[in-house]
Amino acid sequence: MSYEFILVYREVAPYVAMIQLNRPKELNALNLQLMGEIRDALLDLDADDSIRAIVITGNDRAFAAGADIKQMAGKTAIDMLKIDQFTTWDTIRKTKKPLIAAVSGFALGGGCELVMHCDMIVASETAQFGQPEINIGVMPGAGGTQRLTKAVGKALAMEMVLTGRFISAEEAKAAGLINKVVPVELYLEEAVKMASACANKSPIAIQLAKESVLKSFDSHLQEGLYFERKNFYLLFATEDQKEGMAAFVEKRAADFKGK
Ligand code: CAA
Repeated sequence: MSYEFILVYREVAPYVAMIQLNRPKELNALNLQLMGEIRDALLDLDADDSIRAIVITGNDRAFAAGADIKQMAGKTAIDMLKIDQFTTWDTIRKTKKPLIAAVSGFALGGGCELVMHCDMIVASETAQFGQPEINIGVMPGAGGTQRLTKAVGKALAMEMVLTGRFISAEEAKAAGLINKVVPVELYLEEAVKMASACANKSPIAIQLAKESVLKSFDSHLQEGLYFERKNFYLLFATEDQKEGMAAFVEKRAADFKGK
């Protein structure tokens, strides 16, 4: 398969594949096509018996700076509902093989949410995690309010979601969001090592163990995700969303009116 916005490496180590997000000029902003490509690559790798674990990475400057604001800026709530982008995210979450995120630089908004769709997370010392949607008049829509809260607890999740503050890799590690922090030269290597540590186990045991760990919170998660999604769509009915995203595109401060 050929892709425009991702690179797929089928054997970075025995049984280990890697997907690299490849929109560097836009800090790997997650447009709909890029997300569709990640989904298609994961479906392909998940069905391939010669692959047992998958690393997802960006580049040193950015894992991903969020959903593509320019693509969303003019959308209405109904447009967003019809686009139904989160079905793609649900498919990504259903990947049976272990997903290891190798994160450096920005992992923001949808970028942080994509990281949280992975099973284990290795970060470079320069990684920054955040849910800054509030700065552009919206809120997380790809599981951020649910998965972040479960990972780091209410206090820090509220702070990140309501103030938009980024946290460093060290803080993310201390809060339980990620597994490991290493120097920037090593994050990819460490992520591949972690993937290899899964790849030499029984693939069936790995699949069922992964499914079981996810089951521990998935039933409550589904309800929370639907609730979050409706509110995310609803925000596209506000003038503040139009203002917040236009301000980002025009590189100026947003003037929110509460309408
Ligand atoms: N969408 C679209 N384009 C983006 C983007 C995004 N999320 N993030 C960065 N870019 C683009 C910038 O517009 C810029 O493009 P131009 O060169 O054409 O102007 C390019 O990437 C480089 O970005 P900056 O010049 O802004 O780089 P910086 O180092 O000054 O700042 C940053 C980096 C702090 C990450 C800043 O780019 C930023 O704040 N980005 C937006 C972060 C954000 O709000 N993410 C949440 C998106 S909404 C979401 O994800 C919803 C959801 O839950 C599904």
